[in-house]
Amino acid sequence: MESSKLLIEGGRRLTGEIQIHGAKNSVLPILAATLLCGDVSSIHNSASLSNAFAAMRILRSLGCDVTHEGSTVTVNSANAEGDIVSDGLMHEMRSSIVFLGAILGRVGRCRLSFPGGCELGPRPIDLHLEALRRLGVKITEDHGILDCTAGARPQSADITLSLPSVGATENIMLYSALGTGETVIRNAAREPEISDLAGYLIKCGAEISGQGTSTLVINGVPELHGCEYSVMPDRIEAATYMGAAAITNGELMLRGVRPSDMYSCMSVFSEMGCGVYPYDDKIFISARKPISAVRTVRTMPYPGFPTDCQPIVMAVLAKSRGTSVIVENIFENRFMAAPELRRMDANIKAEGKVAVVEGVKKLYSAPVRAYDLRAGAALVVAALGAEGQTQVSNIHYIDRGYESIETALSSVGADIRRI
Ligand code: UD1
Repeated sequence: MESSKLLIEGGRRLTGEIQIHGAKNSVLPILAATLLCGDVSSIHNSASLSNAFAAMRILRSLGCDVTHEGSTVTVNSANAEGDIVSDGLMHEMRSSIVFLGAILGRVGRCRLSFPGGCELGPRPIDLHLEALRRLGVKITEDHGILDCTAGARPQSADITLSLPSVGATENIMLYSALGTGETVIRNAAREPEISDLAGYLIKCGAEISGQGTSTLVINGVPELHGCEYSVMPDRIEAATYMGAAAITNGELMLRGVRPSDMYSCMSVFSEMGCGVYPYDDKIFISARKPISAVRTVRTMPYPGFPTDCQPIVMAVLAKSRGTSVIVENIFENRFMAAPELRRMDANIKAEGKVAVVEGVKKLYSAPVRAYDLRAGAALVVAALGAEGQTQVSNIHYIDRGYESIETALSSVGADIRRI
């Protein structure tokens, strides 16, 4: 699909303030969770993202009444009796697999297509399915279609994930929230977005404990009610703008963030030589010195360095003093920005899990293409620090996770426009 492009004239030093939106990776599972309450929920601080619009379309297709005004999405799931997510809707957004646990929890049955691969490589859901089977769900897979039927209301289960999958943890939470049993998830994902989903469910009446630790306990309750909930700030969006400040030797105040979720990112930017000053719900980043190389950056599950920030940091390190090594431990195919950055004269060698970034003095404009969401954002960051006018195409990927990236960046002095 060809979409609009971003034209970016690099070399402007960014200064000013940016208000960070609600987290994409939080709003999607929370929107799925609204199905469980059979009532009205108002979800505030929801960013206008194409992924969130896709989630709203799924909710409507299941029978929900959904309205979206400003940054509030109101979902009435009283009549959400649907149990099928169409192939088209599944393809629009890979992470729509998070609807599986919610639909099953709500109506006891779900039919959807297997998510298959995506830009980041194969996206297996074996851990999701294995856990749901442990909870008594009967699952058949036929020609890429998953047919799932819940047994009696969720039974008790003690589930140990072989790796702390974010999506699997969310699906188990969503399926177990309603019921009678006690579900224990060991080696659960500890990402802040998991705690945010737990926060919404608890406000609806769920009994969940241990969020933020690797053992989550969900005690099923017979019913949930609607509530008003405000989505946590997007730590990846904040890290992206930290990258934009760093590469332009700029100074940005990021407002509406939660610095405590971002220690691993902040420490990498500090190591690059940036001044990073968190206080309350703000982070001030000042990049007056040239960026220096860093020790090995390894992506890890939270609280380690997030895989979603890796391409952004790669773009900044591309224009730095010295050589940095990046090890990508989470996704197979997460160096999609590297070949495009090379078109901009970056010196990056990537093989398997490892990328070696030899910093160069200058990056130069080139026509480049976003091949996934964060790779696209990384190209925007690189373009802001490059000489000349860069054209970034395929930006529908960027729109999946950033609300009008060009508006935020031009408000702090970037020369960026959408054509
Ligand atoms: C979520 C985030 C994504 C982030 C990722 C890791 C959302 C919408 N997306 O994705 O932005 O990059 O967490 O922080 O929240 N895996 C299996 N089997 C499974 C499930 C996962 O092998 O059943 C593997 C995956 O292939 C991947 C790793 O586990 O290598 C991590 O995946 P997971 O944590 O599940 O990521 P997502 O929930 O898909």
